[in-house]
Amino acid sequence: MKWVQPDPKRENWYWPTEALKERAWISDPHIYETAGADPVHFWAQRAEELVWFQKWKETHVDEPYAYKWFVGGKINISYNSLDRHVEAGQGDKVALIWEPEPTQEPNRILTYRELLAEVSRLANALKRLGIKKGDRVGIYLPMIPEAVIAMQACVRIGAVHTVVFSAFSAESLRDRLLDSGARLLITADGYYRRGKVIDLKLQADQALAGTKVEKVIVVRRTGHPIPMNPNRDLWYPELVQGEKDFCPAEPMDGEDLAFILYTSGTTGKPKGVMHATGGYAVQVYATAKWDFNLHEDDVHFCTADVGWITGHSYLNYGPLMNGVATVVYEGSPDYPDFGRMWQIIEKHKVTVYYTAPTAIRMHVKWGDEWPKKYDLSSLRVLGTVGEPINEEAWLWYFKLIGGERCPIIDTWWQTETGATCVQALPGIGPFIPTVAGRPFPGIKAKIVDAGGQPVKLGEGGYLVLEPPFPPALTRGLYGDPEKFKATYFGEFGPKLYFTKDGARMDEMGNIRITGRVDDVMNVAGHRLATAEVEDALAQHPLVSEVAVVSRPDDIKGEVPVAFVLLKAGAQPSEELKKELIKTVDKHIGPTARPAEIFFTEDVPKTRSGKIMRRVLKALVRGEPVGDITTLRNPEVVELLKQVVGYKD
Ligand code: WTA
Repeated sequence: MKWVQPDPKRENWYWPTEALKERAWISDPHIYETAGADPVHFWAQRAEELVWFQKWKETHVDEPYAYKWFVGGKINISYNSLDRHVEAGQGDKVALIWEPEPTQEPNRILTYRELLAEVSRLANALKRLGIKKGDRVGIYLPMIPEAVIAMQACVRIGAVHTVVFSAFSAESLRDRLLDSGARLLITADGYYRRGKVIDLKLQADQALAGTKVEKVIVVRRTGHPIPMNPNRDLWYPELVQGEKDFCPAEPMDGEDLAFILYTSGTTGKPKGVMHATGGYAVQVYATAKWDFNLHEDDVHFCTADVGWITGHSYLNYGPLMNGVATVVYEGSPDYPDFGRMWQIIEKHKVTVYYTAPTAIRMHVKWGDEWPKKYDLSSLRVLGTVGEPINEEAWLWYFKLIGGERCPIIDTWWQTETGATCVQALPGIGPFIPTVAGRPFPGIKAKIVDAGGQPVKLGEGGYLVLEPPFPPALTRGLYGDPEKFKATYFGEFGPKLYFTKDGARMDEMGNIRITGRVDDVMNVAGHRLATAEVEDALAQHPLVSEVAVVSRPDDIKGEVPVAFVLLKAGAQPSEELKKELIKTVDKHIGPTARPAEIFFTEDVPKTRSGKIMRRVLKALVRGEPVGDITTLRNPEVVELLKQVVGYKD
């Protein structure tokens, strides 16, 4: 079935076919006007589709820095993900399909009834261990069913999960456990990555010293021998054995804290982004349904790790609240060969595939023969997230993966927004390479200049959100209300949420995202601050000063490049470069490795001694360096041009 057709007048524009419009939840573009005229009413209608234990008293409260949604309503995200479907007679429907990395291992497939039972057993065990509503629980798990089960078990009893990406280092985990004050950690012995066993428990053990963690629940995944601390560590299967397979879901207030997820800001210290239960549930549910046009027979495959917001919203909660099957793949896309993702799509008849532009560019590089080996005809909708997509990757995805049949839904959003905010809807379109689309109905966004005034159509500026802010927008940064105000409302005040993204808009209202305007990088779709990489490198004993900037990369979108000043007496060497990479691995994780390290005697600085990263950025990108008259040491720019091989 063909779901899209080309625009007869505009090259590379596509529109939904009649078949897609008929199947789509939404195909009348007037939805933008009606929702825009009364966004609060629009969101109340979306909320009505979920089960509330008690209806909210006030749909929206618009207070500066303290916007609220569904106040006084009682809801539970896990109830809406699981019980709701079981009670509707869908208990035997598949909820979760787990694909382990080793190809000889069988899939684990859980129906909604089975998933509810698993989640309940763990939830009951957590309660027995003394975990109560509001307590923070760390989750440091690979891509196994227990990751979803653990998150669901927490929100079921009102515990606040903070999931930490399993490829993050022990130190990153410790920072997050300390900041959130987590009392319990759920982890695993290890997992498989490109055929090798990765020892996760070892990392977890190193992270725990000095934290408030009293108990550690350990999932047995690989079965390799690991040390267990008898006073602290509990094996998951033994813990949940004997627990009842039903645990009532805690009625949560619409504004109760659902979870914290740490993300990179412009400083070296990640921020704990807080999400409120009701607003998050409603927007994640509604956007998953409309963006991907989810119907009950769908098989949804989101490739994001549970450690990122995309894994939270569109691998776990979004698909499950919509009652579809969600695919969880443990491993690497190139294992055992470059065809693995396409093989998974064929095997499980995946209908919706949601991935990052970086992954698509990797597949382009690996060659067309891999997807061509597999039957991808089950696919209906393709999605992208995390970074701007270039035209070449978009067209490849559209032609080779979607067979020119499927719309590409390029979704713009952030950890802070919790759910997608800008995208084209399948039944409405248009689908245009490099253009995300319009703000979701009921969401108000515009492009402004540095003074907060709207720019002319087509001109570049800053993307901001206007009140009523989207229901899932973060309610704050954990433990730091002042930083919350300063970070998102410092520039334009409490009536404009600053996304930190540059963008432009066309006459139709379609938005093209041009990228971050702060010191945050998108490295292979992973969000990372240049300051975090600097902090990590600075911890090497031979480093005296360091500056990190990003450089565009054909595959990863952006990569960090480091300028390192060594302490007196230290000599630059290839060995030292390797050591520095190890330092980054230790403090953050391999995702943050610099693509290049330049040793230098000096970096450009202002008279007050601040490193001028703008100049370094221009140097590594081969762009004009601009005005350097305000530098204290302008002569260093010429030296650095030689170091980086810059051509005037
Ligand atoms: C970028 C990921 C262009 C953007 C969900 C944003 C995008 C940051 C897109 C948030 C997109 C996300 N097109 N850029 N479709 N989606 N971004 O918090 O710079 O990991 O601010 O959330 O990713 O990254 P985060």
